Amino acid sequence: MMRFEQTFMNFLLQHQESHNRTYHFLILMDAMISAAKHIQYYYLTGALKGNLGLAGGKNVQGEDVMRMDQIAHEITVHYLKNSGRVIHVVSEESEEIIPINPEGGRYLIYFDPLDGSSNLPHGLPVGFLFGIAKRNLEGPEDGHLRAGKDYIAAGMFVISTGTFTLGLKEAGTWRFHIDETMNFVRPTRMMLPDDPETWELSFNEANRHTYDERVQQWIAEHERKYAFRYLGALAGDFHRILTNGGMFMYPAILNHPNPKKNRPEGKLRLMYEAAVVAFMCREAGGTAVNEAGAPILDIQPEKHHQRTALYVGSKQLVENIAGILREKNRG
Ligand code: AHG
Ligand code: MN
Ligand code: MN
Repeated sequence: MMRFEQTFMNFLLQHQESHNRTYHFLILMDAMISAAKHIQYYYLTGALKGNLGLAGGKNVQGEDVMRMDQIAHEITVHYLKNSGRVIHVVSEESEEIIPINPEGGRYLIYFDPLDGSSNLPHGLPVGFLFGIAKRNLEGPEDGHLRAGKDYIAAGMFVISTGTFTLGLKEAGTWRFHIDETMNFVRPTRMMLPDDPETWELSFNEANRHTYDERVQQWIAEHERKYAFRYLGALAGDFHRILTNGGMFMYPAILNHPNPKKNRPEGKLRLMYEAAVVAFMCREAGGTAVNEAGAPILDIQPEKHHQRTALYVGSKQLVENIAGILREKNRG
């Protein structure tokens, strides 16, 4: 007897039917999967095509080379357009909102088509992160700036590792693996482990002395208890935290020797980076806060490309540092 793995699409079909939902979300996710596979294929073969260069650069034939981030953006917009289900998208690679189907669309998509671009020249893992909100079906559409708690789903592909992780509102975070036919299969429910034995800390150690002093002190007190891992791509770093537990952080940069490099707002983008991992983390039993110790998912964005500091992972660790951040905020 042959054994077949359950595919992502079959998993989602069952999920939608058991919740008496429409099939629109399936059509949307089919577009996201097509985009991810297309990006993955491009990335795997991109070095040969000279596509890992910088925008405006030339390849060996003297032709213009498009940056992989831009390629990933165009691929994603293409598939989302064809789905017919999207109102508009917010992409890290476009200053402006991109209207897709303002009248007939149903979903708002916020995405970072290529996360961790410093890994590109090395062919190392990068990510494709996205958050999904739904049209306000009851009345006129609002400003499209949804807080993470109002997303219906958020997920990430780690490319070219071939994993896909999706958080579904009040239905858990699930991981899938790509099989030999390029299908994502084997739904696995992710829950952050309670046992600190496997926990890890993940942050850019080179920035450590630029953090708020209380954050530096927290690190000094806790670092010896945990393993330390940093890939430099949020998708990959958070992927590990989701499996092993612990905390990923990108704190505000406050004391850089070159003050121009300070980032009091943090570096990561709220709508398509921080809120995406915070959403998956919540559905896996964890939590996420900003530099004020406030929940990431509660932040009402004012701008599409707004930045935030991020502390995300196991509740115990994140809440512990959140207490210190809230104290600091009180002065
Ligand atoms: P992007 O490549 O989309 O600009 O995002 C990079 C982000 C994120 O993936 C990562 O966690 C962080 O930047 C790494 O920053 P540092 O290089 O400053 O550590
Ligand atoms: Mn990114
Ligand atoms: Mn990016």
